[in-house]
Amino acid sequence: MESMQNAYPRKVHDSYEDEEERKHFQRIVSAFRHYKSHSLQRVKKTESYLLSLPGHHQKLLSKYKEHLQEVKRCIEYNNDIIRLIIKDVAHIFENVSPASAQNDSVRKLYLTQNTRPVLADQEKVQATIKQLVRDWSVEGAEERKACYQPIIDEISNQFPLDKCTPSQVQILVPGAGLGRLAYEIARRGYTCQGNEFSLFMLFASHFVLNKCRGINSYQVHPWVHQYMNNLKPEHQTQAVFFPDVNPSDLPENAQFSMTAGDFLEVYTEDDHWDCVATCFFIDCANNVVQFIETIYKILKPGGVWINLGPLLYHFSDIPMEDSIEPSYDAVREVIQGFGFHLEKEETHVKTRYAQNAHEHFGSSKWKIGGIVQGLKCSNLYGANSKTTITYFTSGAHEALYSFFFILGHFSNNEDESKIKFNKRTDSFIEEEITDYEYVSFFSYCH
Ligand SMILES: C[S@@+](CC[C@H](N)C(=O)[O-])C[C@H]1O[C@@H](n2cnc3c(N)ncnc32)[C@H](O)[C@@H]1O
Repeated sequence: MESMQNAYPRKVHDSYEDEEERKHFQRIVSAFRHYKSHSLQRVKKTESYLLSLPGHHQKLLSKYKEHLQEVKRCIEYNNDIIRLIIKDVAHIFENVSPASAQNDSVRKLYLTQNTRPVLADQEKVQATIKQLVRDWSVEGAEERKACYQPIIDEISNQFPLDKCTPSQVQILVPGAGLGRLAYEIARRGYTCQGNEFSLFMLFASHFVLNKCRGINSYQVHPWVHQYMNNLKPEHQTQAVFFPDVNPSDLPENAQFSMTAGDFLEVYTEDDHWDCVATCFFIDCANNVVQFIETIYKILKPGGVWINLGPLLYHFSDIPMEDSIEPSYDAVREVIQGFGFHLEKEETHVKTRYAQNAHEHFGSSKWKIGGIVQGLKCSNLYGANSKTTITYFTSGAHEALYSFFFILGHFSNNEDESKIKFNKRTDSFIEEEITDYEYVSFFSYCH
């Protein structure tokens, strides 16, 4: 398939863009800074309503009142981590300072300026904390096994360690999130580069990969903002420790780097990569065809694309955003139209995304017993039923159904312990979508 000339012109680097970029950087730092006040404000709203309730209601809710104190403590803990995450972000990129060539005092001013917090940004801060669980905790192991392991296994099949020099196999992971998949690939000896354009993700992955050393030395409370649908109070306040491995545990000569910037703008060199591995990524495009085209171009002839993820197109139904939402069949046609040869394909792969295990009460039956079991209670659910049994079941969204495919492309350290972060483009997208909240269960009673 012929590609159109100048179909996707690159943005011109100019001072306006520099300024926009600085503002964007500042806005994300500011979002992290506002986390504590924003989150506490939410609890305080509940607390003041609680205090306005009749005394006997408050008495019945005394444990709930104590629980809200615990919620506030968890927010403080999260904020401790956030402060560490943003501590050194001014120096995050090797090749450019976000404050440009300005001197330290200007940079300090720039990083301490507070822009007005944006609600959507606060949700992204919360999503970043949850992503720590997916990528770097024991609790995320099952999710990673479902999402990353099939990709890693296939890389091992395609590039067997005993039949190649793994450091000569160049693997790109676009949309790398907090970097665990890219790290796991590099840990096996391959040369791996993660790419990410969200500063939320980049700040947090920089912290984990370059600053965290002791196993499980930090704790977060990822579900503390989930006020509803909790079976037990501790499900909201649960602590999760990270990192579950030492991120600096890489082979001595490991080649592992992260680049910051839009995948479409950073990767313009044709025939460069032996393998592109995408996980929960291709549906992040306004135009998925453009992602596929870029992957095709940057792969060497004979290179391999391994993909796993759903088609929950991120820009679908977002006001002011363009989006197309082709079905998997249509996407497959596009892929083959570019010249890829399909080697292996699986549909209905069950996966989750940064999800709280307690959201899934499975099919466990929970009988409401004792004094609660009576007419009044059953009235809650239906006047005719006397015994109330509530089944918490996993709803339709219990799991994401992902598509897994492998394609052959048949077209023609300064400091070794430090993961290099390079900023390779001059534009950050303002509103990337990194909020993955799925309805987790429905409850009903018989
Ligand atoms: C759904 S997340 C998946 C992250 C990771 N692969 C995982 O499975 O946990 C998609 C990631 O791709 C990033 N992303 C989306 N579009 C991108 C683009 N054009 N260039 C670079 N990163 C992008 C988002 O910021 C987000 O972190």
